[in-house]
Amino acid sequence: MSYVLDNDQIVLRENVKIDFLDRAYVFGDGVYEVIGVYNGTPFKLEKHLARLQYSADQIELNIPYELEELNKKLMELIEKNQLFTGFIYLQISRGVAPRTHHFPQIEVSPKLIAFTTQTTRLPEDFYTNGVKTMLVEDTRWLRCNIKSLNLLPNVLAKETAIKNDCFEAILHRGETITEGSSSNVFVRKGNKLYTHPADNFILNGITRQTVLEICEKNDIEVVEEPFTKDFILHADEAFLSVTFLGILPIQKVDETAIEVGEITKKIQDELYQLTHKSGIASL
Ligand code: PDD
Repeated sequence: MSYVLDNDQIVLRENVKIDFLDRAYVFGDGVYEVIGVYNGTPFKLEKHLARLQYSADQIELNIPYELEELNKKLMELIEKNQLFTGFIYLQISRGVAPRTHHFPQIEVSPKLIAFTTQTTRLPEDFYTNGVKTMLVEDTRWLRCNIKSLNLLPNVLAKETAIKNDCFEAILHRGETITEGSSSNVFVRKGNKLYTHPADNFILNGITRQTVLEICEKNDIEVVEEPFTKDFILHADEAFLSVTFLGILPIQKVDETAIEVGEITKKIQDELYQLTHKSGIASL
């Protein structure tokens, strides 16, 4: 059975009602989070909720209730759906109002929806041999640090990648690599890792932040500075980081092959240990 968190109520999926004048539907006016769940436990839930709060604040959207309460409701949802391995999708829209671009002049209640998906990670081969990627121009707006529902440029970039037999589109603004269409990008050159700084050009991934913690603990130097297309094409190693899937080595950028190296494997293993602490789930 599939239950959904509909504002503060956990209800059966078929009982959820979404109005077509919901501003998420007509404008993409809302924010969201994707939270990985391993062994029935959400990974870094507080951090996801803090980022949700940040995104909501940035678009002047009120989260309908306290984060502590939301945390409890999401735990209840996991329990109710008997979710073991997978993720929670959570979104909040500004609510239902007559369609005008500006914020509604009338009192409108934000609409919160959360559902769970039971799934497995990718086949082992993706983690050992890596994934193919391609460079795609980053055509997004300039506030990519907000996890907003407006994902059309990301969708189109990912679709271009898929059509070209690639797993991910690596986005670049001019010469500068920003991030993946739905992941963050890391490159090793010599004994340092490089990743785009957490500014308005990228989403500061929760997995990215965890990679930084892992690197700190393991004395791996990370340089948070923009790097170029040419730099990634001459990488010693490169990988993607994203919720639930974890660390995916990059085996190819366009036609350039990149070796899957030891630093990527080390970070991959460390993250795996953190996410699968209770040790019963496997890849
Ligand atoms: N996306 N950058 C972008 C543009 C993303 O969409 C995501 C994740 C990330 C990685 O963030 P995190 O480590 O917090 O998952 C970076 C989610 C998974 C999605 O939209 O489905």
